[in-house]
Amino acid sequence: MAPLSDPAPALRERIHVLPEVLANQIAAGEVIERPASVVKELVENALDAGAQRLVIELEEGGTRLIRVTDDGRGMTAADAPLAFLRHATSKLRDQDDLWRIGTLGFRGEALPSIAAVAAVELTTRSSEAPTGVTVRAAAGRVVDVREAGAAIGTSVAVRDLFAPVPARRKFLKSTQTELGHVVDLVTRVSLGAPQVHVRLVHQGREIAVHPPVTTLAERARQVFGADRVRGGRTFADERLGIAIAGFAFSPHLSFATARYVYQYVNGRPIRDRAVQHAIAEAYASLVPRGRWPGAVVTLTVPPADVDVNVHPAKHEVRFRLAHVVHDTVLGAVRRALAGATGHAAEDPATGVAAALRTYALRPPAAPPPFTTGAAAGASTSAPTDAPGVAETSARVVPAAAATPRPDEPSAAAGVSGGFAPLRFVGQVFRGYLVCEAVDRIVLIDQHAAHERVAFERLRAQHAAGAIERQGLLLPLAVDLAPRQGEALAGRLDDLAALGFEIEPFGERTFLVRAVPALLGGDDPRLLLEDLADGLAEVGSHLSAADAIEAVLGRIACHSVVRVGRSLSTPEVARLLADLDALTYGSNCPHGRPVSVELTRGQIERMFGR
Ligand SMILES: Nc1ncnc2c1ncn2[C@@H]1O[C@H](COP(=O)(O)OP(=O)(O)OP(=O)(O)O)[C@@H](O)[C@H]1O
Ligand SMILES: [Mg+2]
Repeated sequence: MAPLSDPAPALRERIHVLPEVLANQIAAGEVIERPASVVKELVENALDAGAQRLVIELEEGGTRLIRVTDDGRGMTAADAPLAFLRHATSKLRDQDDLWRIGTLGFRGEALPSIAAVAAVELTTRSSEAPTGVTVRAAAGRVVDVREAGAAIGTSVAVRDLFAPVPARRKFLKSTQTELGHVVDLVTRVSLGAPQVHVRLVHQGREIAVHPPVTTLAERARQVFGADRVRGGRTFADERLGIAIAGFAFSPHLSFATARYVYQYVNGRPIRDRAVQHAIAEAYASLVPRGRWPGAVVTLTVPPADVDVNVHPAKHEVRFRLAHVVHDTVLGAVRRALAGATGHAAEDPATGVAAALRTYALRPPAAPPPFTTGAAAGASTSAPTDAPGVAETSARVVPAAAATPRPDEPSAAAGVSGGFAPLRFVGQVFRGYLVCEAVDRIVLIDQHAAHERVAFERLRAQHAAGAIERQGLLLPLAVDLAPRQGEALAGRLDDLAALGFEIEPFGERTFLVRAVPALLGGDDPRLLLEDLADGLAEVGSHLSAADAIEAVLGRIACHSVVRVGRSLSTPEVARLLADLDALTYGSNCPHGRPVSVELTRGQIERMFGR
């Protein structure tokens, strides 16, 4: 043991206050991850300043230059340099203010953090001032302040992000990927502020422009295009001081991830699991299982009822009345969708299926599968509605999942005695087949069964090196978002082996010449976007084999994407026979069950016999 008097380690471990620049760099680590995070902070400042017009200019995906120009109220020459001081803010005075935050910013950290990791030049002019002022900051310090001619408003230019911290610069991705993140951010900002003019320019080229509009539906159309918003519904409701309004996409559109569920509280983009869960539940029986709907949800909540000071990046919040938020969103979206489809979206909590599940298949009612205020990490997981099924005595047959999860145990194969001999009793809830065997009832999820059959068929064809492809009469040009395009471009060879003939055609456009025959005549555009989303999500960590499995899952899903069609008896017979023909390899992707069984014994127990 070293003698206690050894001075060397003691000296090294003496406590000291960090130099301010280093402290700011550490603070930046929490909020400034990439160009899109800089854009987020600058845009939020602009909106807090009452801007009606935002221009976001980038060079090299924002790694070289980010400039955000607004027409907000600007700063006085005296205030402008103060904006670079840590914990300097005009938005908060005392502790009470923390509970009535009406602005997007309040921490007084964004500008000093940015200035610690990049060179910043801010030009601003307030309406009272005859001229403007330019403040330059480098290496975390204000190095120059001088008078400048300027319009009322503020323009902030951020150059060479992370040049002072090379270790972080290494984490930046390609120009296309970083641009993609900014595009996503601009989409989110635009949807949150329909009345603001938003323009995004990359390398002098206009990427997006959204003139001011008065409704969310109009903004959604600007942002997503008329095709995507067709069949969508607006919704609104108010309960206990919590007002919600939003736009629900048509249930005919569904996505591989929850990325298209946009949420805002008091204008702030958030990711809240209660809201996300409410949306998934509202669409539960309308989109294929395991798929996500798209929706924009805006909440207006008394500031005292929502804590936004949970995470430095502020996208996580805590609601005082989380259950009211959840139920209000659920109710309003469900009513809107009922209007859209002509029948009420079935309430999974009251259906007979749910009753069967609760009494026969699993222990007493489970709590709703979300916890309020929890981390947003689960944002890509599928909606869960029967979490307990696989743990029970009921046999389950795995469905093809959109994303393989190789760490799960493989489920039991087939139904005892096979599917074909089952007597088909009827279809319920527009999607489940009720069948009878000698000593049990078998419920089959029609969609999952079709998907599973399609998946196995594709897999067999792929193994035999011959996925049937079908040429398109006219090649179809598909425009993708930058990050989608990048993900797709990296997998074109794998996709060719799967029956796609796709070639790059310009920066963000791909030409599709052939698709897997199984897809039939459906427009492959959505599938392609979906594939690209999925591939972008999993990134390049996925091995080729796993990526192929994931793509097969998605093709299968799209080949049967319609929910709730009623089947003729011969169609049911064919489906049952097809299910028997499946081979369940130990490495098959697992998802939700295709079928569940209820034995005569279980039923008798339910009736106390
Ligand atoms: N575009 C702008 N227009 C007018 N004032 C601005 C603008 N950007 C920054 N400011 C002023 O500079 C201050 C510091 O900005 P900064 O983003 O660092 O902190 P904040 O917005 O108060 O809090 P947060 O760290 O949560 O973003 C703001 O409080 C605001 O007074
Ligand atoms: Mg700010």
